[in-house]
Amino acid sequence: MELSLNQWYKVLAPRPVVLISTVNLKGVSNAAPFSFVMPCSTEPPLVIFASDPDHHTVKNILETKDFVVNIPDREILKELWICAKDFPAGVSEIKKAGLTEEKSTKVKSPGIKECLAHFECKLFKKYLAGDHLLIVGKILQAYVRDEYFPGGKYLITRANPLMHIGGNEFGLLGKVIKAK
Ligand SMILES: Cc1cc2nc3c(=O)[nH]c(=O)nc-3n(C[C@H](O)[C@H](O)[C@H](O)COP(=O)(O)O)c2cc1C
Repeated sequence: MELSLNQWYKVLAPRPVVLISTVNLKGVSNAAPFSFVMPCSTEPPLVIFASDPDHHTVKNILETKDFVVNIPDREILKELWICAKDFPAGVSEIKKAGLTEEKSTKVKSPGIKECLAHFECKLFKKYLAGDHLLIVGKILQAYVRDEYFPGGKYLITRANPLMHIGGNEFGLLGKVIKAK
């Protein structure tokens, strides 16, 4: 069947979902889920995500020039869903969701303690692409929970990161298969 042009991205799924945490100039934190996200360079290490330009996340990043990409697991799906709500500017979704802010090493934006990995990013570039703003972050510092990365191998089935299917539907990885 032919896909209508406002439906195609629903088939480019599931997508990893991240929680992006930021802070405004008054020091109020913010967090929101994003699934239009991908790595875009290894040297320098760059990550890119696409956001509606009106999101508070974007406003904060343009003010402070930094953000943290946090990887959530299935344990905090309920909290992630609260972070997706449209709270007024200046209200911290991290606090509303009962999540814990963690001081970052290299950036002003806090990380989210309950997440399994954190990438501290400095704004590298931004581009307007259609109705979304592409935010490119240079990763200054990255952390993952020890038990999910023993000997440099990511144990993804143990980590159980959330993947976004669409709306309020999320997927989890069933099994890992190997190419021969
Ligand atoms: C799983 C999930 C993924 C989302 N992905 C995106 C995305 O990639 N880009 C975007 O602009 N909004 C996305 N949203 C919507 C924002 O998270 C939502 O509008 C949020 O309230 C924005 O918060 P903010 O204004 O505090 O930045 C997503 C929502 C959910 C639940």
